[in-house]
Amino acid sequence: MPDSVAVTDDTGIRIIRMDRPEKKNALTQPMYAAMTAALNEAQTDVTIRCIMLAGGPGAFCAGSDIGDFQKRAEGGLESVTVDFLYALARNQKPLVAAVGGLAVGIGTTMLFHCDHVVAATGTVFSTPFTRLGLIPEAASSLLVPLRIGHTRAFALLVMGRPLPVEEAKNAGLVNTVVDAAAVDEVALKAAREIAALPAGAVAMARKLMRGNVDDVVLQIETEVKHFQERLRSDEARAAFAAFFARKR
Ligand code: COA
Repeated sequence: MPDSVAVTDDTGIRIIRMDRPEKKNALTQPMYAAMTAALNEAQTDVTIRCIMLAGGPGAFCAGSDIGDFQKRAEGGLESVTVDFLYALARNQKPLVAAVGGLAVGIGTTMLFHCDHVVAATGTVFSTPFTRLGLIPEAASSLLVPLRIGHTRAFALLVMGRPLPVEEAKNAGLVNTVVDAAAVDEVALKAAREIAALPAGAVAMARKLMRGNVDDVVLQIETEVKHFQERLRSDEARAAFAAFFARKR
């Protein structure tokens, strides 16, 4: 388990915490692998009744590590990100998110696989895929329009317009907005509430509500194919270089 992901089990709740604060919890390939394992192992563990995804105060997750994107564009890195996307889509346990601050790219799109989202005041959600020469992932091209409507989804996913937390709440992405210091506690309380319910009934209700998993998996497959092409595009390579050049 890399230091930058901490997995703890607390009375029926598995907490998967991204912990790379110096990079705003941008996800590296080892972090993806650790999160995938933590999700997958939880599926067959009957003692785990709810999973909580968390980051830190100020930053939930700044998206995939752009350095890894660059390496993949050069063909130097096999992606384990895709395994995480499938694990999210196939996950059968209730998923709560504690969003303590900024959520970029996958930091936002993973939330559309969650069942209950608590976010800090001032949080901004953004998915600058097209600005990076990329396209939406994690089945967000399917799930986001379904959840918040096409025009809001287009502004977020294609125009790259940030979605402030209050708008995200109105749009149905976020349940509760609290001070950053209270995010973990409020999310954990919701997770405990879910964990205290009859697990079989919760699992079946969730399955019925989340619709056809195969459709979600197929969308991920299609997105991944195009995403890989986009990673190697001139547009994407230029955007990655510009990101790392911005402070020089
Ligand atoms: N990949 C790699 N490094 C990242 C990163 C990412 N996705 N997001 C942040 N970082 C790094 C920064 O390069 C910086 O590293 P440095 O201190 O060595 O220079 C560090 O994290 C802190 O980020 P910084 O930009 O100084 O913080 P900020 O508060 O000014 O801005 C963000 C935070 C998230 C808005 C900004 O870092 C950003 O836009 N990151 C890219 C997000 C992104 O495009 N993700 C991919 C989406 S598909």
